[in-house]
Amino acid sequence: MKSNKAGNWRRWILWGLLALVIVIQLIPVERGNPPVETTIGAPEAVMAILRSACYDCHSNESHWPWYSYVAPVSWLIAHDVEEGREHLNFSTWNRFSDKDRVELREEIWEEVEEGEMPLAIYLPLHPEAELSESQKATLRSWALGSAHSGNRDARLEPSQARSGEEHQDASHETH
Ligand code: HEC
Repeated sequence: MKSNKAGNWRRWILWGLLALVIVIQLIPVERGNPPVETTIGAPEAVMAILRSACYDCHSNESHWPWYSYVAPVSWLIAHDVEEGREHLNFSTWNRFSDKDRVELREEIWEEVEEGEMPLAIYLPLHPEAELSESQKATLRSWALGSAHSGNRDARLEPSQARSGEEHQDASHETH
């Protein structure tokens, strides 16, 4: 009889957990993609890296896979995206001053070099975000290279942005 009672308890606990899993699905989760105001106008090779490794959390073009609709995983993902966008959002790069952009680019390289970004939790389901040495080198030369330009007008096409950089580099020679 004793074991039967224990079995009952176990069943109630399981039903309780199931109910809990269902109920938490009803809690609303912010999963929006606000408008994209700009692109950062980096060279295509750099854009490809940022898009595959960073854009899900640092842009308004996040992909929301099926598991981002299942609590409690959805809470984690929504939280990372919210925080990621708060710190650095490539879709609103236009809102940063030239100085901020230079600093952000330096920080981007710092985070990647130290292995802090992309976040470790992202990698198992996004192996393409694991950056190779050559991808890192590409990112580094963009982030630190002609960093002083800071893409004055990020809305320009990359080719135009590059000529803008040259112009600005020239003005920096007086430093
Ligand atoms: C899974 C989501 C996620 C991915 C993918 C991701 N980040 Fe982040 N990132 C965050 C979060 C969350 C923060 C803020 C909290 C922290 O620093 O851990 C952050 C912070 C940063 C910061 C710090 C900004 C500041 O103001 O301190 C930089 C720079 C950064 N990320 C760059 C990158 C780059 C570059 C990539 C791609 C190579 C990337 N991140 C990929 C979530 C992500």
